Amino acid sequence: MADSRMAGPIDVAALRTLFPVLDQTVNGRPLAYLDNAATTQMPLPVQTAMRDFEQHDRANIHRGVHQLSQRATDDFERARSALKRYVGAGPAHELVFTSGTTDALNLAAAGLSSAGGAAAWIRPGDEIIVSGLEHHANLVPWQQAARRAGAVLRILLPDARGSLHAAELARLLTPRTRVFAVTACANATGERPPYEALLALAAEAGALTVLDAAQAVAHEVPDLSALACDLMAFSGHKMLGPMGSGALVGRREALERLVPLRYGGDMVEWVGWSEAQFKELPSRLEGGTPHIGGAIGLAAAAAFIDGVGRAAIDAHVRALRAAAAAGLAAIAGVTVLSPAASSAIVSFVAAGVHPHDLGTLLDEQGIAVRTGHHCAQPLLDHLGLGPTTRASFALYNTPEEVERLLAGVERALKVLR
Ligand SMILES: Cc1ncc(COP(=O)(O)O)c(C=O)c1O
Repeated sequence: MADSRMAGPIDVAALRTLFPVLDQTVNGRPLAYLDNAATTQMPLPVQTAMRDFEQHDRANIHRGVHQLSQRATDDFERARSALKRYVGAGPAHELVFTSGTTDALNLAAAGLSSAGGAAAWIRPGDEIIVSGLEHHANLVPWQQAARRAGAVLRILLPDARGSLHAAELARLLTPRTRVFAVTACANATGERPPYEALLALAAEAGALTVLDAAQAVAHEVPDLSALACDLMAFSGHKMLGPMGSGALVGRREALERLVPLRYGGDMVEWVGWSEAQFKELPSRLEGGTPHIGGAIGLAAAAAFIDGVGRAAIDAHVRALRAAAAAGLAAIAGVTVLSPAASSAIVSFVAAGVHPHDLGTLLDEQGIAVRTGHHCAQPLLDHLGLGPTTRASFALYNTPEEVERLLAGVERALKVLR
C-alpha cells in the first residue's frame, strides 16, 4: 500500500460506490449528506468485516478454550493493536475499548476523581481546566468530577472569535491544576484550536492532559507519540465505523490512575465474597462483554481511512470547508463561525432566520445538515449566539454538494425572509 499519510487527490466517485446509503433520493432530490460531524456513513468493507465476525467467529472473548472464542479473542486483540498503530501509540501506551467518546471521557473523569484504594488523582482544592470549546461530553463529566472530588473547575474561555490562546491557559495554570481537557476540533464552530501547544503547556505545569479527538480521527488523526497527551478519546461512528464503538487511549501511567467505572466479569483476577483483585490494563477498565464486532469494525474503518490516505482525506475535507465557508460568508446576512478555521465543519447563522427552519428547507432539497446547539450550549452562549446551522464534510462529499448547499441556503433564505 502507498504511504497512507501522503496527500493526493482522492477518487470520490469510486469511493462513493462503497457507501450505498449515499445513493438515494430525499424529497425527490439526490441526497447530499452533510452531517458527518454527527455521524459518518459506514463503507462496505467495514460492514463486511463486521458481518464476517458475526457469521464465522462470533463468541465471547478471553474466557473460552474453544475455537470460536479463541478466534474472537484474536480478532478483538488484533483490532486493539491496529487502532493503537492508527493513533501513533507506542509501547508506553494502551488502548481501552469504550462505547464512544462520551463513555471514554466519563471513564477518565470518574476514574480520576474517585478514590479506589489509593487516593484519587483529583483531590479537594485541586483545579481542573476545561476549554470553552467543548462538546458537553468533555465538560459535564469534569463538572461532576469537580463536584465529586471537591475540586474547582476553571474554563479556558475562547476570545470573541472563538479562538483559544496559550497565554490565557498559562494564566490559569497553577500548581493545583491536575487536569487539562481540550478538543482537537470544536464540533459547534469548526474551530481547530492549537491543541498541541496547549497540551504541552499544561503537561509542563504538571497537569494530566486529555484530548477529545472525536472530530479529528476521521482525517487529521492526532499522533499520540508526538503529543503531550495523557488520554485521548474518540468514537467509531465519527470515523466511518460502527455506532457504540470507541476508545480511550493514552499513557499506561495515566490509565493506571483510573478507578474502573464498571466492575464485574473479565476485569477481575480473582474474586472472594468481600473483595476482588483486578486485572492489569486494558482488561481492568473493560468490565463485561465488550462490543467485539464494534471493535473489529472500528479497526476496519481505520484501515479503510489509511487505505485512502489520511492526509489526502484531510486536504479534501478542508478544501470543501473552505469553499463552503467562503460561499456562505458571501451571502447577505450570513455569518460564518470561525471563518478561517481549517477543519471539516462549517457552522453559520443567518440573520432573522431560525436554523431549524433553514434546516427543514434544506432537507426539502435533499441536503442533510444539523441545526441547534450541537451539545455546546455554553460556548454558543459565550459567543453571544443561539443555535446555528452546521454542515460537515467527509471523504465522500463533493464540490457539487457544496454548490448545492450554497444554492439551497440562498433559496431557503428567500422563502424565509
Ligand atoms: C467534539 C465531540 N466530543 C464528543 C462527542 C460525543 O461523541 P459520542 O456521542 O460518539 O460519544 C461529540 C459528538 O458529536 C463531539 O463532536
